[in-house]
This record gives sequence, structure tokens and C-alpha cells, in this order.
Amino acid sequence: LWQDVPQGPPDAILGIAQAFRACEDPKKVNVCVGAYRTSEGNPWVLPSVRKAEGIMLENNEIKEYLPIEGDAAFVEKALQFAYGKNAPLDRIAGVQTLSGTGACRIGGAFLNAFLPGRTIYIPDPSWGNHKKIFEACGLTVQTYRYYERSQNGLDFEGMLEDIQTAPKGSIMLLHACAHNPTGCDPTPAQWQQIYQSILERDHVAFFDSAYQGFASGDSEQDAGALRAAVDAGLPVLLAQSFAKNFGLYGERCGTLSVVCGTAAQKDLVMSQLKCIIRPMYSSPPRHGSSIVKTVLSDEPLTEQYYEECASMANRIVDMRTKLVEKLHEVGSTHDWSHVTQQIGMFAFTGMSSDMCDQLTEEYSIFLTRDGRISIAGLNDNNLEYVAKAVHAVTDG
Ligand code: LMR
Repeated sequence: LWQDVPQGPPDAILGIAQAFRACEDPKKVNVCVGAYRTSEGNPWVLPSVRKAEGIMLENNEIKEYLPIEGDAAFVEKALQFAYGKNAPLDRIAGVQTLSGTGACRIGGAFLNAFLPGRTIYIPDPSWGNHKKIFEACGLTVQTYRYYERSQNGLDFEGMLEDIQTAPKGSIMLLHACAHNPTGCDPTPAQWQQIYQSILERDHVAFFDSAYQGFASGDSEQDAGALRAAVDAGLPVLLAQSFAKNFGLYGERCGTLSVVCGTAAQKDLVMSQLKCIIRPMYSSPPRHGSSIVKTVLSDEPLTEQYYEECASMANRIVDMRTKLVEKLHEVGSTHDWSHVTQQIGMFAFTGMSSDMCDQLTEEYSIFLTRDGRISIAGLNDNNLEYVAKAVHAVTDG
């Protein structure tokens, strides 16, 4: 029956992660997926997360279904984490989602249902999954200029021009902080200009926040762009992920929220978000959200969490500097200063897809073909090997 089903293409990010697992070269290095690794190259369960799980076990937490919209107490804590303690939660509709991907998917379905025919603009480049998610929701996806490859920096003029010339009422997908894959964010002053243009054109701002805490090491500071958008009165949607900052990758924990004009609008929006979720997966899983709720409900545990998140961000900053130093040490004469200027989990190196292929084929270094390196995958044991290989393919 299924012999004519065509082979699906491997995923641009997770397909490479699969190839890494299958590779038998003992020298193999995984700098593909954005997932934190310790200085020994291992995944890390945050001690605050473990502590929360202990508390949950002690409290004999049950395994009942959550409501369609998720755990309301978790959603409240999560939204305060993003929008701030003084956020107007009375008019923000929020539901628990299957991490950031699930949030984008629910948000996309909501936009397609209630703002039909509008185009969503994503940055060029963006996270590889954005286009597929929003297309699967039935939205037309286009790009706005974001990154100037020849300068290794933000194309602010191009971005602004594209926002200003997009049809009125378009949806602008914005990375809340630590842009994936470029590691290049607008400055606070540039954000204000972006918001002015969005307001002038009656656009909708859809934030994807997957790296809060990873840009500066300070979760409050990293929420600045989102909070400024709400303060400026923009119509805002937010896809929030706890995969990276809480290390809850496999727990699939996040939220989707819609900032409304009034509490009455919030209720209407909530009712429709539930209508989207119920036939899709009924209700979200409860373990991850319970962890986040437990951590954020306990002040000392929250403090501990902030320190642990900062320690991840700091190790990445350290490896970023060391990578550039090592590249020069092994003889590279290229200007790699953009790598130290970038923020978040990735280095957008500027390497071509051919160079990336060569790194994978000849050195078993697995990275995405856009030249993105997940700095979190680097450590003192593999740094020199990676630097030498990068030098070989970029100077060869
Ligand atoms: C990434 O960009 O590597 C992460 O967001 C993981 C993923 O799901 O693609």
C-alpha cells in the first residue's frame, strides 16, 4: 500500500544530530543542535531542576490530565518570567504548549484562523523550523532582511525598510533575544525604531523566546525587548520555550500567549486557543511545567536557578573567546571578531555549506550547513581539534 510514498528529507538540524549519533569516529564532535553541554561534553540537568523534582516526589504529585490550556499556576509563573512581575496578566491570554515549537504552531493556527490571508515575515536567516511550522499552519511565509553576511552583522536599514514596506497588518516574527542562528540582536534603541515601524504599519509582533537568560546571563535583561514591545502598545504574541534555559529539552515545556486589549478579549482568545489545542493533542504533559512552577514558586530555588542559568551562559561566552583565540593560535589569519561579538548559544561563522560538509566528511564535526556552530558543544578537550579543522577548511 505504501510503496509509492516518497522518502522525506532529513531535518536540517535534527537530521544532522541523527547522523552524529550514527557516526563511529571516536573524534566526532557535535556542534549541531542547540543543546547545552558541560565542560566534559555531557548534558546537564540543573541542580535546581533536580531539587524541584525531589519536592514534587515528596508532595506525591499526581499524574492526572492537565486542563486543555495547561496548568494555570505554571502559566502565570511563566508569563511573569517573560513579561515581568508587573505584567498586565489580566489581559494576557496564555496556554501551556509543547515547548517553543508547539507554541509557534498554536500561535500560527490562531493567526491563520482569526487574521486569515495575512503573511508572516520571518528574519533571513531564522531558525530552520520557523518556515515549516508557519506554512503547516496555512500561513504564507516571507522573509525580511536581517543579517548582512558580507559584514557579519545586523542589516538594520534593510530590516526596517522591509517592515515598512510589508503590507499593512502583516505578522512580524521577532526573536526575543539571542537570535538563532546569527547571535546578533538589535540594540534597545533599534528595537524602539522597529516597534515604531510596526505600529505605523499596524503589524502584529510575534516573539519567539527560546533563549531568555542565554543572551546576557540575566533573564530579566534578556526580556527587555519583549517588555518594551508591550510597553509600546504593540499587538504581541509570544512563543516561550523552557528547553534551553531550564535544560528541559525533552520535557516539551513552554507557553503561547496573546496580549489583548481587555480582560474580555483575553477570555475570547483563551476559548479559541483551547479549541485549537483539544483536537491536536488534547492537553499538555505535566512533568516539565510542574518543575518550572516549583522552581519559580520558591524564592531560594529561583535564585539558585538564576545562578545556574548564568553559569551556562558564562561557559558559552568563555568558549566563544577561547575558540577565536585558538583559531588564531593554530594559524588562522581571518577576522573572527564577529564570533566574539555574537551572543547566545551559537556562532554564525560565515562558513559556506561546502566548508561545513568538509568539516563533517573529513573531520566528523557535525554542524548545520549554514555555518552555525553550537558553542555549547565545545569544551577544552575538543576545542583545538575543531579550531584546526575550521582553519583547514577556511584557509584551504
Ligand atoms: C536548534 O536550533 O538547534 C534548536 O532549537 C533545536 C531544534 O529543535 O532545532
